[in-house]
Amino acid sequence: MLHSLAVNVMENAYVPYSKFKVGVAIKSGNNKYYVGCNVENAAYPQGICAEAGAISAMVAGGCSLISEVLVVSEGDRLIVPCGGCRQKLSEFSTSDTRILLATITEIEKTLSMRDLLPFSFDKRFLNFTE
Ligand code: THU
Repeated sequence: MLHSLAVNVMENAYVPYSKFKVGVAIKSGNNKYYVGCNVENAAYPQGICAEAGAISAMVAGGCSLISEVLVVSEGDRLIVPCGGCRQKLSEFSTSDTRILLATITEIEKTLSMRDLLPFSFDKRFLNFTE
């Protein structure tokens, strides 16, 4: 499910500059699915990663916990979420949240959020009480 959702949404990526399509699918804590693709911009820094789009869709849908997230790109080499996206994913993950890395044909690697972003900065460092 996650794999086919991510491969499908990847086709919609808007990548006139990098020509590098990325698709992401999230399964949320309440078993709903959300997708995102990268959306570039002529003002390069304004481009948005696929992970950011999927996270925004999840939050807009009323969910704030990622159970599993799958990242896919074209080509034979697996990609991993960039540093900024690791931080964004971490905000809505537990240390056991599963990060699935895939090619178009199959899931090749499974990591935990703990593997992907050890020693992360999170809300516990802030003086908020919940
Ligand atoms: N990209 C993502 O969408 N997610 C990542 O984790 C890494 C990079 C996008 C950003 C840009 O549109 C293209 O891939 C090339 O960097």
